[in-house]
Amino acid sequence: MSLQDLLEVVPSGSDELPLVRSIDFERLPRHVAIIMDGNGRWAKLRHKRRVEGHRAGIASVRDVVETSARLGLKVLTLYAFSVENWKRPKTEVSTLMGLLKHYLRMELNTLLKNNIRFRVIGRPGLPSDVADELERGAERTAGCTGLIFNIALNYSGRAEITDAVRRLVEDVSAGRRSGPVDEDAIGSYLYTAGQPDPDLLIRTSGEMRISNFLLWQIAYSEIWVTDVLWPDFRRRHLLQAIADYQKRERRYGGITPV
Ligand code: FPP
Repeated sequence: MSLQDLLEVVPSGSDELPLVRSIDFERLPRHVAIIMDGNGRWAKLRHKRRVEGHRAGIASVRDVVETSARLGLKVLTLYAFSVENWKRPKTEVSTLMGLLKHYLRMELNTLLKNNIRFRVIGRPGLPSDVADELERGAERTAGCTGLIFNIALNYSGRAEITDAVRRLVEDVSAGRRSGPVDEDAIGSYLYTAGQPDPDLLIRTSGEMRISNFLLWQIAYSEIWVTDVLWPDFRRRHLLQAIADYQKRERRYGGITPV
C-alpha cells in the first residue's frame, strides 16, 4: 500500500491532498492504537440516546481501518470495550455487543478483500454469540498478510500483564519454559506478542487519560489527543496525527543529538 492507494480515495481538489502529500511513507508508525472516546457526548449534543453515538462511531471505524490499510500500517488497535465498561447500563452494553456483531458481519468480506487480519484482544467473557462471530472473523482472516486489525474487547492493560506473568511463571515452574524471565519473555505472553509496540497512541474527545489501555506496550508511544469526538473522526484526523507524529523526535529516554 502506498501514496497511490491513498490518493485513489482522496478526491482531486480536496483540501486533504496537501496533508496526504505531507506524509513521509518511509517513516510511518508501524502500529497505531486508538482510544475511541466521545460517542456519548456526540449523541448528547444531538439530543440522541448514547447508543446512537456508538452506532455513528462505526463509520469512523470503517474509515480508519480502510485508511490504515491503504497507508500500509502494520497494526491498528482500537479500544472498543474495557473490563470496566460492564458497569454501563445493560441496554447500552447489549447494543454495543450487537453493533460489534453487526460490524463484523457487514465488513468481513471487505476485510478479506483488503488482506486485513482481524484479531480480538482481551479477556474471555463476551456473550457467546458475539464471541462466536468474532472468532469466526479471526479464523476467516487468519491467512491475511496485510494490516493486523486488533479490537480490544473486555480489555484491561493490568489484567493483560497479570495474566501474562501468571502464565509465564506457570510455564517456568512446570519446566515448559527455560531462559530468563525478562521483558522479552513477558512481552511474548501478551495478546500482542510478535507485533510491534504502538508508535502512536491517539485519543479522541480531549481526555488526557490512558484508561488502562496497552499499559506495557505504550511505554515509548507518542501520544496525540484531539478534541474531535470519535463519531466525527475521519481519515483526515488520522493523517493529521501521523503528520504530527512524523515531526516529533523520539528519544526513548536518550538525549537530543547535537
Ligand atoms: C467511548 O465513548 C466509546 C466506547 C466505549 C465504545 C466504542 C465503540 C464503537 C465505536 C462501536 C463499535 C466498535 C467497533 C470496533 C465496530 P463513550 O461512550 O465513553 O463517550 P463519552 O465519554 O462521551 O460518554
